[in-house]
Amino acid sequence: MSQIDNVLHEDRRFAPPEEFRERAVLGDEETYRRMYRESIESPETFWDGVARELPWSEPYSRVLDWSQAPRARWFVDGRINASAVCLDRHLPERAEKPAIVWEGEPGDTRTLTYAELQREVCRAANGLKSRGISRGDRVAIYMPMIPELAVALLACARIGAVHSVIFGGFSAQALRDRIEDGSCCAVITADGGWRRGSVLPLKREVDAGIEGLDFVHTVVVVRRGENEVAWTEGRDCWYHELLAGVANECEPEAMDSEDPLFLLYTSGSTGKPKGIVHTTGGYLVGTSLTTKYVFDLREDDVYWCTADIGWITGHSYIVYGPLANGATVVMYEGAPTTPHAGRFWELVEKHRVTIFYTAPTAIRTFMRLGAEHPERFDLSSLRLLGTVGESINPEAWMWYRDTIGGGRCPIVDTWWQTETGAIMLTPLPGVTETKPGSATWPFFGVDPVIVDEQGNELGANEGGLLALRKPWPSMLRGIWGDEERFRETYWSQLPGLYFAGDGARRDEEGYFWILGRVDDVINISGHRLSTMEVESALVSHPAVCEAAVVGRPDEVTGQSICAFVTVAADVEADAAFGAALREHVASEIGKLARPAELRFTDALPKTRSGKIMRRLLRDIAAGIESVGDMSTIEDYSVLAKLRDYDD
Ligand code: WTA
Repeated sequence: MSQIDNVLHEDRRFAPPEEFRERAVLGDEETYRRMYRESIESPETFWDGVARELPWSEPYSRVLDWSQAPRARWFVDGRINASAVCLDRHLPERAEKPAIVWEGEPGDTRTLTYAELQREVCRAANGLKSRGISRGDRVAIYMPMIPELAVALLACARIGAVHSVIFGGFSAQALRDRIEDGSCCAVITADGGWRRGSVLPLKREVDAGIEGLDFVHTVVVVRRGENEVAWTEGRDCWYHELLAGVANECEPEAMDSEDPLFLLYTSGSTGKPKGIVHTTGGYLVGTSLTTKYVFDLREDDVYWCTADIGWITGHSYIVYGPLANGATVVMYEGAPTTPHAGRFWELVEKHRVTIFYTAPTAIRTFMRLGAEHPERFDLSSLRLLGTVGESINPEAWMWYRDTIGGGRCPIVDTWWQTETGAIMLTPLPGVTETKPGSATWPFFGVDPVIVDEQGNELGANEGGLLALRKPWPSMLRGIWGDEERFRETYWSQLPGLYFAGDGARRDEEGYFWILGRVDDVINISGHRLSTMEVESALVSHPAVCEAAVVGRPDEVTGQSICAFVTVAADVEADAAFGAALREHVASEIGKLARPAELRFTDALPKTRSGKIMRRLLRDIAAGIESVGDMSTIEDYSVLAKLRDYDD
């Protein structure tokens, strides 16, 4: 394989503002360098120092056993309980401090203090126990973003049951596949939840999804939507009835550090979703440390991560990481633009949010809606912004910085994966000079390298495969029930390295630039271009809101570029505009990258976590029917419209 060509140039850079640096958890580069060096040269000493801070009920005998690589064991023989780390350790000091500040889509609100959350989790744990659910059982959770969702995770953790959260937007079939794969004995759900002004009938999907699955003996239903639900006597029980008679205390199970805490399914590019397994001790160490440093957490912060708990971002940075640090977490049930386009900003103003973490796809949506919406609200409480999920194109980064952050908030562009459990590449906001579009530097203990397909290390600015050289505490421990696929997917392509599946380059100053999934790379006459860079060039045109670029077969050049483009509402997407846009790309990055074909569209097919499904677009561009797993697509009508497109 030749390298991925590097065509995007970005020279802007932003140092942490002085006031920010002065008050930061970590505010000088010297200390970062020293800590980083220690974390790489003596990882066991470094991680021991971190892990020691957690409340182990039995101390570990060894920090790491990597002798069975790629099977890692972290904090060997240690015993710990995730719900005790997130709740009990804060009591009584933070008893009255809000743990969850929740806002429903219709505007109803609830606040749970640490004392209240701890009590609720104990009660829910006792409720689950009363249904015979115990240590090691798998419990599926399919819920709207209401406080009981966080409670459900922590209640499972408390009794040692393994939770498997399935995003509330998935259909019955996706639910069934995941419940079957994990052989879950129970499901925690709700009658319904609010989304875009109506109630999604979650219980109905569960009923259809588990029909005939006799191993599911219990369905616990939280009342939220007040919609009518069908009832299976003996199996179904209302959450409030289950908790009516139970005790307020529940002793946390002393879990082995390596006992699974949860499964979370991630869709591969084809085929069956993978149940990623995370365990207890290492995951807590990784998520709590990253939350503290990356989000520069202070006691009085109001922290809002807009992800759904159905994704890894919600697991690690709504529930486990922030609560382990005793933070106040904002949680919002509904859509970002319901009932109006400024809803997120209204919530920032109302709850005086100080730290805001969201996805590039959301930022681009807000850009498209216009600055007048955030401008109606007072966003002066914000002091730190973050992004995750995709590369953020520099235009969106600048808009986020100026329009949302008022030019004063550092941005942390955090690269990581369901598999990594915690943030891997990221700026530290009081230390790192940021460059728009770069996830910058490795976090402590992370040893990234850019290699070619044979595993040879590449030089500065040479695009290649992103791999990790060292094990890290929050790393995945496997794919549920499929050891072979685990080894094959992550550990066999580059011997001795963890292969993330992403392309990246490291610039001459050591900054990492993620180029997207390597499956998406386009090869034109032997030049390998990253989709992300061509998309960035398209989006840098003021009339373009979003773009997705794929390769389609070309007899002459091997592949050529087909671009799917969404333009601002007031722009006429005619042939002349198309020609101008193609020239724009040619002048931004070169004639090689000029799209052979442009298709204008109102929307792009995305996964529900906001990632563009380039695999489907590739098939459309090539004129073939898509096969493979489509259970993650957000809106089928988008796909139908693209197929019907006639140019
Ligand atoms: C992509 C989400 C560029 C990447 C936490 C990765 C990113 C995949 C970034 C994992 C980023 C995530 N810059 N790309 N800051 N963050 N990605 O499992 O391709 O939903 O491999 O985890 O998202 O997605 P996942």
